[in-house]
Amino acid sequence: MSYQTISVRPLTLRIGAEVEGVDIAGPLSNAQVDDLHRAIADHQVIFFRDQQPNRDQLKAFGRLFGDLAIHSAVPGLDDHPEIVAIHADADSKFVAGEDWHSDLTCDAEPPMGSILWLHTVPEVGGDTLFASMYDAYEALSPRMKAYLDGLTAEHDANPVYRPLFPDVDKRYACNIHPVVRTHPVTGRKSLFVNSSYTTRIMELPKPESDAVLNFLYQHVTNPKFQVRFRWRPNSVAFWDNRCTQHLAVWDYFPQTRSGLRVTVAGTKPY
Ligand code: SIN
Repeated sequence: MSYQTISVRPLTLRIGAEVEGVDIAGPLSNAQVDDLHRAIADHQVIFFRDQQPNRDQLKAFGRLFGDLAIHSAVPGLDDHPEIVAIHADADSKFVAGEDWHSDLTCDAEPPMGSILWLHTVPEVGGDTLFASMYDAYEALSPRMKAYLDGLTAEHDANPVYRPLFPDVDKRYACNIHPVVRTHPVTGRKSLFVNSSYTTRIMELPKPESDAVLNFLYQHVTNPKFQVRFRWRPNSVAFWDNRCTQHLAVWDYFPQTRSGLRVTVAGTKPY
């Protein structure tokens, strides 16, 4: 792939690339924005080093890719409701995203993408793993692809957030989406179930649904589909939730890992 204004270095053959030649604090030229749209479509998750956007600049960068979504479960910052703090330290009891997931698939219109800037990271550890759901889908047998075709699944945030926030009296989002979705930009098919939010396949009896989902949850963890990102202070990861899953490794307790995330709104999966 060639780009006019940025340099894009793939980190694996399937997923992930490091981008150079962009200051996400902006302003960005139209040609840079076009290149970034192509880079995220080509690589599913892109990474930037040495970035120091302020809160408005982080939001402005996110808006180059769509409207910003408000997190349906976790409150944003007081003055910036579109920004969620991602923070872990010696007092943390849990961290966001420790299990494989795509962000907020419980929503009726799950986010297109998420942009995470970490300013503080442990010297070692705290990596994030990303997996390509295009490749996970494509690696299935033709028989399994035919079996999954047309199935839908429930994605429920209540089992995720109710135990984490027992004092919050709130019904979290729960919606039904296709098990295999088509990417609106690339036209490629990807697996769209994840072990954090997906609870059952609607068209199957519960034991069969559990067996199929467990097989798929195990299948998506194949290292062949993955890239592992080693953070440095002031790195940014921008991932496409429509065709990836990710997992944040909490192997650095009691050290601090901290930053800010914006989420770009998406559309109803088909
Ligand atoms: C998340 O799931 O959004 C958190 C990712 C991370 O902290 O690396």
